[in-house]
Amino acid sequence: MINFDELIDRNTPEDLKHARIKGINDLIPMWVADMDFRTPDEVVDALVEQAKRGVYGYSEADESYDHALVSWYKRRYGWDVDPKTVLKMPGVVLGISDSINALTKVNDSILIFEPLYGPIGRAVKGSGRNLVISDLVMKGSRYEIDFDDFEKKVRENDVKMLIFCNPHNPAGRVWTREELLKVGDICLKNHMIIVSDEIHADFYIAVISISRSLLCQKN
Ligand SMILES: Cc1ncc(COP(=O)(O)O)c(C=O)c1O
Repeated sequence: MINFDELIDRNTPEDLKHARIKGINDLIPMWVADMDFRTPDEVVDALVEQAKRGVYGYSEADESYDHALVSWYKRRYGWDVDPKTVLKMPGVVLGISDSINALTKVNDSILIFEPLYGPIGRAVKGSGRNLVISDLVMKGSRYEIDFDDFEKKVRENDVKMLIFCNPHNPAGRVWTREELLKVGDICLKNHMIIVSDEIHADFYIAVISISRSLLCQKN
């Protein structure tokens, strides 16, 4: 269990989160999605136990990993995940880069909603694809998708892929069902693939889901 009321001192010399704002006292560092809560004892104990074995060779996740994953998605979302369809990656951005390379061609257009966690746009540009940006708009106190702008840019640039983020970093939005359906409709109509970065969902795993439009094309 995490004690959410416990304040921990993260302002240590090796702490990158604070190092980047060194010397500015009236700023709270929120530039990186990095926890201000102590890691739960259960996690620390499991890591210590593993570390104490003293052998750090290559390893593979065993069946208990698949079981935890499948059971979580079933219990939380009623979704039957076939573990054979899950590809384990050492990092989310790497998974996104591989999806870009596997599912689009050089010079294809890929759209993101900005502001967005920086490495994603860089992964698009770095793979020689055309980065198309639809800016989120601030309405009241929250960011929203400008659907007219999104659809216009998709058509004008013949966009092949949307890299989506839900919950969104840094907008802090969990997109509503209506918003998700609208995004899905536009992608479906325009035969686009959706790669969805869900690293900030309730289980530390990124779901890279490929939209039905791709499955339709394949069938
Ligand atoms: C939206 C988003 N995607 C990915 C990452 C990190 O991905 P990686 O596993 O490649 O470090 C972050 C980290 O803050 C993030 O906010």
